This record gives sequence, structure tokens and C-alpha cells, in this order.
Amino acid sequence: MQLLPGVTAVDVAMSARVREAVGGDGGRQSLPGVKNVIAVGAGKGGVGKTTVAVNLALALARSGGKVGVIDADIYGPNVPIMLGMKTQLTTDGEKIMPAEKYGLQVISMGFLTGDDAPIIWRGPMLHGALQQFFREVKWTDLDYLVVDLPPGTGDVALSLSQTVPVAGAIVVTTPQQVSLADSRRAMAMYKKLNIPPLGIIENMSYFACPSCGHEADIFGHGGGEQMAAELGVPFLGRIPIYQPIREGSDTGVPLIISEPDSPAARAFIAAAERAAAQVSIASYNRPTIPLTVIK
Ligand SMILES: Nc1ncnc2c1ncn2[C@@H]1O[C@H](COP(=O)(O)OP(=O)(O)OP(=O)(O)O)[C@@H](O)[C@H]1O
Ligand SMILES: [Mg+2]
Repeated sequence: MQLLPGVTAVDVAMSARVREAVGGDGGRQSLPGVKNVIAVGAGKGGVGKTTVAVNLALALARSGGKVGVIDADIYGPNVPIMLGMKTQLTTDGEKIMPAEKYGLQVISMGFLTGDDAPIIWRGPMLHGALQQFFREVKWTDLDYLVVDLPPGTGDVALSLSQTVPVAGAIVVTTPQQVSLADSRRAMAMYKKLNIPPLGIIENMSYFACPSCGHEADIFGHGGGEQMAAELGVPFLGRIPIYQPIREGSDTGVPLIISEPDSPAARAFIAAAERAAAQVSIASYNRPTIPLTVIK
């Protein structure tokens, strides 16, 4: 190592510049104020899409990105509960201002209806609402706009694919075969809709006993990773079953905020880093590189 005369210490300031996803194809105009739209979906309900979407968004923000969240679950908006938000939306005279929490810009149908109000709409109205969430909201300087998709593989993903260029989709699965089968279908659907797969996250992957540290594979082991390998898509990571994740969802303080140094939060952060890497690769319009991580 060579010393530099007159220099006793060096401060290195690291910064990151997130590139914009290539878009504007197929008549879909890229979104002002947004560099990359990331969809979080699954083939099944209740596997933890919203939990993963919210914690990923916070993990991306924690590493310096500016991040927004669209709650695309119009009929069952859960994002406001998970982020502990009760808010009335305002406008700047022209556009709807997104609500803000934990540094995230957020929009949800939950801000427009009462907590228990049923939302009974026909399909085209749903498409209209989604369009508005993208186009009529004043998104500002976002590196990532994370879209929490509703359960099922249908109309919202189709609507999304027709509305904006999507950098890619993350599919959340649990390890058991019934969830994996549905995840394969979800992956195939994104492919059909020309939404690149960013990868698979296996949620509720294992239970680490807080008393003895023993890890139990309640829903089986290795399914998500195996499926990723089969489909040639990246495996972004495993998130354990962890009681504070559920508690944080219910109380509106997500794990990345309440226990940022816990192993489960670190799993979210690692998955977010891998997803961000895949977004960068996608933004260069190169094919994705399958990643494998070992627990
Ligand atoms: N890794 C985890 N550990 C513990 N609890 C979890 C975990 N992931 C999700 N949960 C809990 O499981 C429940 C379902 O999660 P969530 O609402 O995120 O699923 P979803 O796939 O978005 O559901 P829906 O299909 O209804 O939109 C929530 O109570 C959440 O707190
Ligand atoms: Mg959900």
C-alpha cells in the first residue's frame, strides 16, 4: 500500500443513483416522477404480499432510495393498516398528493373510504382507479414505486401492464406445494404481460424458535428456491415466520422500523438489495441473471 504524502485520513462518501427502467413501449408512457415500478404479487392470497411489499419498500428507502407505495388492492386495502396511517388525501389544486409515512409516499383506496366500508365496483372502475393512482398522483423523485397487488392473478396485473412500464415483478410464495403451483402460474402470467420477473421471495419460510434457536421448516424446505431455479428466475431470499412481523403489521410499525437489526429484518433488507440489483439489470435491458442465496 502506498501512502499519500500530506494525507492522514480519507472520508469516502458513497451515494447511489438509481437508473430509470427502460419503458415507453407498447403505448405505455413512463410515469413522471417515477424511475422504476416494482410489482409485488403472488398466485395466492394471504402469503404475505402486503407485508413483503411494505417491508421491502422501507428497506429500499433505508438504503437511500426514494420510495413510494401504491396499494393496488382496491377491494381490500391493507397498506394503511400495516403502515399505521389514517389520513385524508389532499390536492395541490391539480393532482392528488400522496400521503407520507416513514419517508414513503403512499396511496391507497383506504384513504378514500372508511375502514369498514365495502367497495363494490365493476371491473372498468377498478382499472380507472388504478390509472388514477399512477397518473393523477403527484409522485415526486421516486427511485422505486412498489405496487402491492391484490390476491389472484387477473385483472389488476393486466391493468397495471397496460398502464405503465413495469421494471419487474416480485412473486411472493410460501414453501408448500400448493402455493408454489400458484406462484408458477403467476410467473407465467407476468411473462405473458411482458413484465420481467425480478425474482421470487419465499415468505414464512421457516420458524426460528426464539427460546432455543431451532429452525423448523413448517411449510417444507427449499421449494421457492427450487422453483426459481426451474423457471430460471432469481431467488431473492427467505423471510422467516416471526411473530413481530405479524405484530408490526397489526400495529402499523413494520419490522424494518421496529427491529431493523433483527435477522428477519436483515432478510428483508438482503432481498431488497437483490431486487434493486435486478431492477438495475432490467433497466439496462439485459436478461436477468439467476441468483441463488443460501440461508
Ligand atoms: N413472515 C411472516 N411472519 C409472521 N407473520 C407474517 C409473515 N408474513 C406475513 N405475516 C402475517 O400474515 C398475514 C397475511 O399477510 P399479508 O396480509 O401481508 O398477506 P397478503 O398476501 O397480502 O394477503 P392478501 O392476499 O389478503 O392481500 C398478516 O397477518 C401478516 O402480518
Ligand atoms: Mg395483501
